[in-house]
Amino acid sequence: MSFEDLLTWAPAGSREEALARQLNFERLPVHVAVIMDGNGRWAAQRHLPRVEGHRAGIDAVRDVVETSARIGIDVLTLYAFSVENWKRPPTEVSVLMGLLKRYLRLELENLLANDIKFQVIGRQDELPADVRHELDVGQARTSGNRGMRFNIALNYGGRAEIVEAARSAIEAGLRPSELDEQRFGDLLYTAGQPDPDLLIRTSGEMRVSNFLLWQIAYAEIWVTETLWPDFRARHLLEAILDYQKRDRRYGGITQPVVVGR
Ligand code: IPE
Ligand code: IPE
Ligand code: MG
Repeated sequence: MSFEDLLTWAPAGSREEALARQLNFERLPVHVAVIMDGNGRWAAQRHLPRVEGHRAGIDAVRDVVETSARIGIDVLTLYAFSVENWKRPPTEVSVLMGLLKRYLRLELENLLANDIKFQVIGRQDELPADVRHELDVGQARTSGNRGMRFNIALNYGGRAEIVEAARSAIEAGLRPSELDEQRFGDLLYTAGQPDPDLLIRTSGEMRVSNFLLWQIAYAEIWVTETLWPDFRARHLLEAILDYQKRDRRYGGITQPVVVGR
């Protein structure tokens, strides 16, 4: 994104503009992953049923997808439904599935217009047939897109993903000596994608809840008290600015800056 584009997007004098001006476009996280949490609490604060929180969360999804694509994030992964979320009341689960279907139907043209490639990570075969159909259409129609990759983690579990990868290694007849981290990574849903650089969690919980366990090995974690339905572009920009101040050492040491030589 050019600086001019940025200024047309963020209204002059807005918080977004002030934050966007501070961004270092040379050091953007390549992959941002988000645990969208707090919909239920958002609804409870307003004495509304939990599902109203999920409904309100859709606006946050739109804003984050659009902002990420605009600023030039290569991969965005949103955690929408975990393998453990089936423990919730059936009505809540079916509202969530319905919202997802509607989101895809309404947003598909927008995803196409923005060259976004949509992909599901998780066990799609266990999802209701009508949801699977919508996901298939979304993935097929955006498959040729070359802009941002947008992964939705749906019926996703990090441990399940690792077990499935191990099973496929066995099924493929790989010998132990042929298996290394690179090869194993290629058996995961995120094959070919860079690992998340930045992991955001909303609503203050300090846990990863079975999300991308393999891939977040060296992700920088940013947790905000903001509840997901209230999360907007400015929060994403705050997270990225904080990320840009981090010293990523990957187990090594920071090289001291030698001044005056
Ligand atoms: C996140 O919000 C959405 C999903 C997990 C599907 P929650 O529904 O978990 O909201 P809280 O954590 O109960 O507030
Ligand atoms: C994580 O949130 C799953 C998603 C955001 C889809 P949860 O609300 O399910 O996580 P816990 O139960 O608080 O760990
Ligand atoms: Mg939650």
